[in-house]
Amino acid sequence: MRTRTTLITLLCLFSFTIGRGQQTVDSKDWTTIENGEMWLDNDGYNVQAHGTGFLKVGDTWYMIGEDRSESWNPDVNMYSSKDLVHWKWERKIIENGVTHPELGKSRFIERPKLLYCKKTDQYVVWCHWEGRNYGASEAAVFYSDNITGPYKFHWGGRPLGIKSRDCNVFQDDDGTAYFISTTNENQDLGLFRLSDDYLEAVEHTVLFPGERREAPAIVRVGDMYFMFSSACTGWDPNQCKMSYSKSLKEGWSPLENVGDRIAFDTQAASVLRIFGEKQTTYLYVGDRWMDPTLPESKTIIFPISFDGTKCDFTYSQKFDINYKTGEVKR
Ligand code: GAL
Repeated sequence: MRTRTTLITLLCLFSFTIGRGQQTVDSKDWTTIENGEMWLDNDGYNVQAHGTGFLKVGDTWYMIGEDRSESWNPDVNMYSSKDLVHWKWERKIIENGVTHPELGKSRFIERPKLLYCKKTDQYVVWCHWEGRNYGASEAAVFYSDNITGPYKFHWGGRPLGIKSRDCNVFQDDDGTAYFISTTNENQDLGLFRLSDDYLEAVEHTVLFPGERREAPAIVRVGDMYFMFSSACTGWDPNQCKMSYSKSLKEGWSPLENVGDRIAFDTQAASVLRIFGEKQTTYLYVGDRWMDPTLPESKTIIFPISFDGTKCDFTYSQKFDINYKTGEVKR
């Protein structure tokens, strides 16, 4: 259900007007992104899209994520935005009691992630498909001909028979897509190459065996892949670690700490690439989980940068971005 809390909404509207309303910095090309408040959509409702996944189509970002507007809510919401600040409510793309009979009863969804498959001209969602106090350890796949859905259930289970929890997707520049998840009872990360239609896992590679990593997010920078991940501490934040490799399947560098010891109170969800006329900028997106008031969890965005194999992972509570040129002012 979409909820509006009068006092909180008024407070948020106030901060929206003060902080987020000042979108123009020195010209119409600059956007200010400020972290720390609940986001509101174009109708004034709290944005509920946690464990966020993104897909850019033309100049529009589509964002999907967990609806946690009630303490336990298995719906997946979709919003769209041209600036990652003003969010238009699209719809529930996966809905409790509608999309799948078990959803909302014995099943819930975490970390839904969105892909576009050029070959089939379909939109595909991969997610953590859970039940029984995380004992199911499964993934699920949904698809639609339209980005805004509604999405149909394709499959749920353990990819290639392997127990799978926290997850993400990665689409490489050549169109090959991967599902990556925490496997083997949280011991390893599993990299699953997907079939050409993105609907099946076809190949499994074990990464970081025994390192107990979750919330993986991969970004490609030139010919290098960088992966960010957290330790497994439930809703509590912990040290973000980074690794890099020239191949997704092998050669990952030893995990190294980035940022502060609690990843600036976030857990990785995505890394976005902004291809500007002057430079490419990378935006880290993380969940600031607010346990036990999960509906108040925040989505945090800040620029990170790369130099060779180094990553500058410095938090910005507020920054300006020029989507045309790709430039950032902290
Ligand atoms: C975290 C995970 C979240 C959620 C949570 C439940 O470790 O990243 O997606 O599963 O545990 O406690």
